Amino acid sequence: ETQEQLDAFEARIQRGEKIEANDWMPAEYRRQLIRMISQHAHSEVVGMLPEGAWITRAPSLKRKTILIAKVQDEAGHGQYLYHAAETLGISREEMVDALLSGKAKYSSIFNYPTLTWADIGMIGWLVDGAAIKNQTMLAGCSYGPYSRAMVRICSEETFHHKQGKEMIVMYAQGTPEQRAMAQDALNRWWWPAMMMLGPHDADSPNSGVLTRWGVKLKSNDEVRQEFINEHVPELLEAGLTIPDPDLYQDENGDWKHGPINWDEFWSVVKGHGQMNRQRLEARNAAHDEGAWVREALEAYMNRTPAQAAD
Ligand code: ACO
Repeated sequence: ETQEQLDAFEARIQRGEKIEANDWMPAEYRRQLIRMISQHAHSEVVGMLPEGAWITRAPSLKRKTILIAKVQDEAGHGQYLYHAAETLGISREEMVDALLSGKAKYSSIFNYPTLTWADIGMIGWLVDGAAIKNQTMLAGCSYGPYSRAMVRICSEETFHHKQGKEMIVMYAQGTPEQRAMAQDALNRWWWPAMMMLGPHDADSPNSGVLTRWGVKLKSNDEVRQEFINEHVPELLEAGLTIPDPDLYQDENGDWKHGPINWDEFWSVVKGHGQMNRQRLEARNAAHDEGAWVREALEAYMNRTPAQAAD
């Protein structure tokens, strides 16, 4: 890597040009993007588990079809993202192996259990709401294949967000049992949703280089602030109580949160959350049970011309 190459690369980023797969890029840009996009892909795939667990228990056919479509969307998002990462020279097998062996990270949020049906609505409202804030920013990122994947993913996430909000608002205005179920779901998902947007900026080692190279256009705390500012008034309007006694609105209109339990966050990230073990076991079982599909695909690819003509 020469200084001229780096200067020319940074000048392109400054001009707002997209970097494409075959363009020159610093090795560290490539490494950071592979790290981030593969973690993101794994999150989409593991994210199917907490919601998939409720498909058979959805309270109506309408809710069931919505949930099936949503879980299927997450699989599609995983596909685009694995492909976006592959453009940087890593193989699908390497990424999947890293996930299945527990080496790769995926979003902390999916290591919490879905205990009631309201959790499905709360995930749509809060978790997809947080994801949209982060991913709308990433749609503007400097790496072309990632930014384009984000455009489509965000529009699908918007449907997920709306169905979750609609469901929770309905329960919050429903029977006492429904209201209690919605509040309990908020009590359990509020803080994990805040944490999923990443550590405070001062504790975010990757932010410096990602910002410099136009991957992150906003910091973790800025995205978290956007998330709170949008969601706090809506949750209050729905009649729910946010489980943060220190929450207040400052003179600029920003909602300010109390201290986040980062010990809990790091413990989940390091594999000690409530569901880390089950999530990896489920992914490994799905991978093993799907071996015959991969074998069939390979046999099909390797068919002889005579077989292909058949
Ligand atoms: N869960 C698990 N690990 C996390 C999380 C999280 N919520 N937030 C940060 N980390 C990890 C980072 O991956 C990094 O570890 P690494 O260097 O070993 O890879 C470490 O904590 C330090 O964090 P940062 O330096 O702040 O990491 P980064 O700059 O990458 O910012 C962020 C984290 C905001 C999550 C970023 O990677 C990102 O925008 N990723 C793409 C979006 C994404 O992955 N979303 C997944 C959930 S959305 C969904 O699936 C519905």
